[in-house]
Amino acid sequence: MCGIVGAVSRRNIVPILVQGLQRLEYRGYDSCGLAVHAASPDAARPAGLQRARSTARVAELLAQVQTEHIEGASGIAHTRWATHGAPAVHNAHPHFSYGPLADGADGRPGRVALVHNGIIENHEELRAQLQARGYAFASQTDTEVIAHLVDSHYDGDLFQAVQAAVGALRGAYAIAVLHKDEPHRVVGARAGSPLILGVGQDGAEHFLASDAMALAGVTDQIVYLEEGDLVDLQLGRYWIVGKDRAPLTPAQRPVRTVQAFSGAAELGPYRHYMQKEIFEQPRAIADTLEGVQAVVPELFDGPGGTAAWRVFKEIDRVLILACGTSYYSGCTAKYWLEDIAGIPTQVEVASEYRYRTSVPDPRTLVVAISQSGETADTLAALRHAQGLGMRHTLTICNVATSAMVRECELAYITRAGVEIGVASTKAFTTQLAGLFLLTLALAQSRGRLTEDEEAAHLQAMRHLPVALQAVLALEPQIIGWAEVFARMENALFLGRGLHYPIALEGALKLKEISYIHAEAYPAGELKHGPLALVDASMPVVTVAPNDALLEKLKSNLQEVRARGGVLYVLADADTRIDSSEGIHVIRMPEHYGALSPILHVLPLQLLAYHTACARGTDVDKPRNLAKSVTVE
Ligand code: F6R
Repeated sequence: MCGIVGAVSRRNIVPILVQGLQRLEYRGYDSCGLAVHAASPDAARPAGLQRARSTARVAELLAQVQTEHIEGASGIAHTRWATHGAPAVHNAHPHFSYGPLADGADGRPGRVALVHNGIIENHEELRAQLQARGYAFASQTDTEVIAHLVDSHYDGDLFQAVQAAVGALRGAYAIAVLHKDEPHRVVGARAGSPLILGVGQDGAEHFLASDAMALAGVTDQIVYLEEGDLVDLQLGRYWIVGKDRAPLTPAQRPVRTVQAFSGAAELGPYRHYMQKEIFEQPRAIADTLEGVQAVVPELFDGPGGTAAWRVFKEIDRVLILACGTSYYSGCTAKYWLEDIAGIPTQVEVASEYRYRTSVPDPRTLVVAISQSGETADTLAALRHAQGLGMRHTLTICNVATSAMVRECELAYITRAGVEIGVASTKAFTTQLAGLFLLTLALAQSRGRLTEDEEAAHLQAMRHLPVALQAVLALEPQIIGWAEVFARMENALFLGRGLHYPIALEGALKLKEISYIHAEAYPAGELKHGPLALVDASMPVVTVAPNDALLEKLKSNLQEVRARGGVLYVLADADTRIDSSEGIHVIRMPEHYGALSPILHVLPLQLLAYHTACARGTDVDKPRNLAKSVTVE
């Protein structure tokens, strides 16, 4: 999703802007651009705002910038993921305002340059007002209205102009703005989209970015801006005002030292980040569980010091909010929470929950699950639940510094490390590990976990990295399946009980990176409709653990075979399901009990990955998708 970088310095900051964009590439984008104040104007190129934009990769933008000798000591840059207006150069950011037409002829230099993440809901109304005042629009974006709005309020002070402009905006935004008359100044603002401030060398230079990773290697001194903040960056100084427009003290927005994992971008021996991240899962799970000696509520204590044990005593139910893959980890956890902890659990797609009338219960623990911790729908759903009076909140999140962690009472930080591939893999399995621990902690607080059970569960968790390694060793067999799947246009995924969400996740992985249409069903539902789709051209992938539903599942498999369907079964070693005509079996290790979903999802990730490779898609950046979905 869109990414922002901005800088004010004495040195040429173009390399920092470009490197920042490269570090944000993992979020997904379809165009990019930057604008600077020209540092050393010459006869061929007048002073003032200069811009380069591209619908190719950031590397192409860099080549363009070098060819055109664009240099400057302050500037802004952007990766765009199209929402309003197609991916095209004229819609790419930064957007310029040249002032109203009445101010001069076309071809004038830009007065305001602006980049934006988010969506402005009242852009049509603002566009009409600005057009009536003589502003001409060069793009179909909602962003361009903000550039003209800032220009229309400008009276010699960019900060004042931005402050006035954002007052008219409805929707979500993080913005960074330059004005041609103020060469050493960048103004930023955030409401609903993430933005951070980086304090650079000796406090003399300052940066803006969508996340700390964009500034890795430039500065690790980060200030997290909050909802409604405006920030003024100048040489050697910055200040921030809060949403009530009162200046904030350093104590209110402290500078934190942040490890931004600059080394995470190395691919090593892998072809794609997704493959690397699939193979990192044993390590990611080990890191996530490191230091867990016993099931204690303290594992979930909040960053602000809230004690989890107190909260656990005050709740009778769980409400899980999440999107996409994180939603499926929540669906898996529902089975654990109800079975092991005996606690009623509801799982909601965040984008739906926030807009429906629901019945709030203050004795609910609201659990927001997110890899990025910045997903707009999940954040909005969390705030909606809080607004309904459910103040007990917990996040399972992979980014310790994210809005989700800052806004929740309790937190469990997964240690998957930076996930770059758009398709989530190691974030999913580490979320499952965190959610299983949460289940055990809630079971314990409700007197439903004996010491022996606790010890057995912890032992199984500690053994997970080794068990996962054994599953990864199945890769060559899965490549064989992938060669067949690459020629298909449809696939069905079946699972039952705890493994139904794993079937859903397998189907999501396959469709998002290979573009094969895939659907998942609880196997018992087959005869209620989807069986009509089954014929020899419909591969049916089945997750078959040796659990209480195995015999039922075997009957469902017979239903598929009887209609000529071809089965691809991931069967636990002790299931006695064997390969035969029309049934291809990959043998998993012996059944792994309640933690089995963490093992069974790996072959499905590998199947999607190798199928996508065989079809030649852009595995790490699938079409139309973004890593961090910071707009609604
Ligand atoms: C799918 C995928 C998405 C994310 C979803 C939520 O592979 O990655 O479905 O899971 O956009 O993102 P987070 O977890 O960052 O809130």
